[in-house]
Amino acid sequence: MNVIEVEGLSKHYGDKKAIDDISFSVKKGEVFGFLGPNGAGKTTAIKVLTTLIPPTSGNVRILGHDLRKDAKHIRSRIGVVQQQESFDPGISVEVSMNLYGLLWDVPKDVRAKRIEALLKQFGLYEVKKTGDADLSMGQRRRLQVAREFLHDMDLLFLDEPTVGLDSLARRAALDFLKEKVKQGMTIFFTTHILEEAEYLCDRIAVINYGKIITIDTPQNLKRKFGQSKSVDFTLLEGSSSDLVRSVEHLDEVSKIAQDASDGAYHIMTSKPEVVIPMLYQLAEKLNLHISSIYIAEPTLEDAFIKIVQEVKA
Ligand SMILES: Nc1ncnc2c1ncn2[C@@H]1O[C@H](COP(=O)(O)OP(=O)(O)OP(=O)(O)O)[C@@H](O)[C@H]1O
Ligand SMILES: [Mg+2]
Repeated sequence: MNVIEVEGLSKHYGDKKAIDDISFSVKKGEVFGFLGPNGAGKTTAIKVLTTLIPPTSGNVRILGHDLRKDAKHIRSRIGVVQQQESFDPGISVEVSMNLYGLLWDVPKDVRAKRIEALLKQFGLYEVKKTGDADLSMGQRRRLQVAREFLHDMDLLFLDEPTVGLDSLARRAALDFLKEKVKQGMTIFFTTHILEEAEYLCDRIAVINYGKIITIDTPQNLKRKFGQSKSVDFTLLEGSSSDLVRSVEHLDEVSKIAQDASDGAYHIMTSKPEVVIPMLYQLAEKLNLHISSIYIAEPTLEDAFIKIVQEVKA
């Protein structure tokens, strides 16, 4: 079953086409990532899909319901963590959580248990009496994410939820989301942190200028758009122009360069398994010694930059 179905969706602000005729669908239990540069249209898309602003044109079904006809029902079954901060300076963490639970009609005893569990899960237990204004930026963001889990939902939208979170808090939050997905939740997620997208997302849509450029798994995006692999090695002898010349002539090698800072060589190749044995043979012939070697895989960031730049060109 498709939890999100989007067909020919556009959202214009005056002349500005913030979303420009996009179509995609998200299956139940999927983590779907929306990646794109600043101003690409991610937040606008989330606002439309969560019924906060109306679309200019197109059809959207959320959890099987028409966005224009059943907004109320949709709102009752989704959660959203917005990009913009929302906080109430006079209120403590605990009271803020409680108010949010009340807003969602969570029964008192369930509410108390959930609040305690969530405060612990999101590392907020020690600051539960602290007023919102005195929280650190990361703590405030944690609160914004944590309180969304007070109510039941089938689909959660998160707009850069981990901004300002330290590495440990970020990993804990991502693992918490993964656990929710295992229990059947579907997640629509935006981030600028590519490792995070790779860790969490089953599929990723890359968006720029309001248009979806491509949709695929992180693995396939890297395969299709990532640069070739790089074989990185150092020589005990430091450097050797003879070796560089020999390596350059190999058919499988597109480029070899030496890093000025640490003297390491980088060979760009799509076939490291062929190049590495040849490299050892050449080194032996020249009486050189390879002191370290490893293969660097293309990253999702490489792929993302390539995708976005290609469309600009
Ligand atoms: N209320 C608005 N009125 C006019 N233009 C808007 C409005 N909201 C957004 N825009 C414009 O629409 C485009 C998309 O903005 P949006 O906030 O969706 O981008 P984004 O992908 O979320 O960017 P970021 O990564 O910076 O959060 C931008 O060019 C922005 O200036
Ligand atoms: Mg945004």
